[in-house]
Amino acid sequence: MNYLVGIDVGTSATKTVLFDERGNVLASASCEYPLYQPQNGWAEQKPEDWRDAVLQTLREVMEIAKVPADEVKGIGISGQMHGLVMLDEKGEVIRPSIIWCDQRTGDEVQDMLKLMPKERWITITANPPLTGWTAAKILWVRKNEPENYARCRHILLPKDYIRYVLTGVFAAEVSDASGMQLLDVPNRRWSGEVLEKLDIPEEWLGTLYESCEVTGTLLPEIAGMVGLTAETKVVGGAGDNAAAAVGTGVVKDGTAFTTIGTSGVVFAHSSQVTIDPEGRVHTCCCAVPGAWHVMGVTQAAGLSLKWMKDNFCQDYVAEAEKEGVDVYDLINRDIAKLPAGSDRLLYLPYLMGERTPHLDPDCRGVFFGLSAIHTKAHLLRAVMEGVSYSLTDCKDILQEMGVQVDEMMACGGGGRSPIWRQMLSDLYRCPVKTVHQSEGPALGVAILAGVGCGIYESVEKACGELISADKCSNPEEADVAAYGKYHALYKKLYRDLKEDYKELAAL
Ligand code: XUL
Repeated sequence: MNYLVGIDVGTSATKTVLFDERGNVLASASCEYPLYQPQNGWAEQKPEDWRDAVLQTLREVMEIAKVPADEVKGIGISGQMHGLVMLDEKGEVIRPSIIWCDQRTGDEVQDMLKLMPKERWITITANPPLTGWTAAKILWVRKNEPENYARCRHILLPKDYIRYVLTGVFAAEVSDASGMQLLDVPNRRWSGEVLEKLDIPEEWLGTLYESCEVTGTLLPEIAGMVGLTAETKVVGGAGDNAAAAVGTGVVKDGTAFTTIGTSGVVFAHSSQVTIDPEGRVHTCCCAVPGAWHVMGVTQAAGLSLKWMKDNFCQDYVAEAEKEGVDVYDLINRDIAKLPAGSDRLLYLPYLMGERTPHLDPDCRGVFFGLSAIHTKAHLLRAVMEGVSYSLTDCKDILQEMGVQVDEMMACGGGGRSPIWRQMLSDLYRCPVKTVHQSEGPALGVAILAGVGCGIYESVEKACGELISADKCSNPEEADVAAYGKYHALYKKLYRDLKEDYKELAAL
């Protein structure tokens, strides 16, 4: 039997899964690490934490599954997008990674717009300059930490740093590289024009691959450390959203998914390069060679609920520990009793600014309509609804652009909640489905590894064989009407507060 490994370097944890070639899970391990927020709107993680988590979880899955090491043919790596990892000439990490949800680069985005008009950025990189994307972060380090910038010899994304740890190879892959703002997205190659304008040497970036191409093999010392062989191949892999698309079978036109992880994403496959001229949703290369995707992003989706849980739900955490159950199941149990709209309470999920549709690094979270009748459960439900309103903003823009969405899958931690899926179905006004195979990005990159190792003929064929639909939530008429009204008010609240957010940021 052939086996494949999928590694997903997420924001809250790294998850590593060992699959057989039929897509069955043999072993799974995860390891959490901290997110550092040195200032309001900043977000950093330590690449060394990702490295330790990957090595530990790889070792664990090999110990649990006890499969012959030489039958593990390939590894795929998926990861949080946009994070900046800078290495020196010895391959040592120079500073913590500035990750995807960091919003410190408002000035650098303005600098980028002075170097080249917005329209040209959109033509080449398929997106306007964005605060969370890698290019603006490189400029921030150059301006604010010249001593760190002077030592820089390699720029990698989070999962590509892990590839370097595993294989010693400096490489990148098109889906994730699309989120650096250095890639010519329609032509799937580094953009000489952008690199020249930004004065960033191309040799700092890795060799560019398609997602299912083999980029190297395990270093012998790493193979020995984790119980694998130095013949195990590592393929390009994918950014976490492009990887989740493969893992949920979203690999052809008309298919789409919503994921609720730390961020929330509405993602639609597209065989054409389709760009929003206003730049409110992102266009990137997808993991299927020769295809692209369009996605809208809610910065703080699962992050909002986790923030509530960590700060205000010690009672739920204690009960979950006592009963040996998942704390989010307890939250779901209690919010199920409340009506759509949380008895007139709205939440704006802008804890880390917002991307779609506002592209506003300064906006922040709001509870609107608090009354003495509201309980903690109301606040929790309002948070889940607020995230759903934001995801609906994403879905509406895809629709406005004419991107076809015949089928919406749900995945990520939040996608496991039937109540959250029902909210999405009511707001999207379409069925929302899950797939039996719940490993999402990890399965996606394992499939890419299988294609790269010649086990599967193509990404599309493998998805057709390995992935099948499971549950389906359909819109409930009464709630569709109620949510429609709440969503309209939610949208108005941002417009009303837009200038106040700027004032707040200036305090
Ligand atoms: C996508 C994005 C997030 C991260 C973290 O543009 O920033 O989805 O990939 O998961």
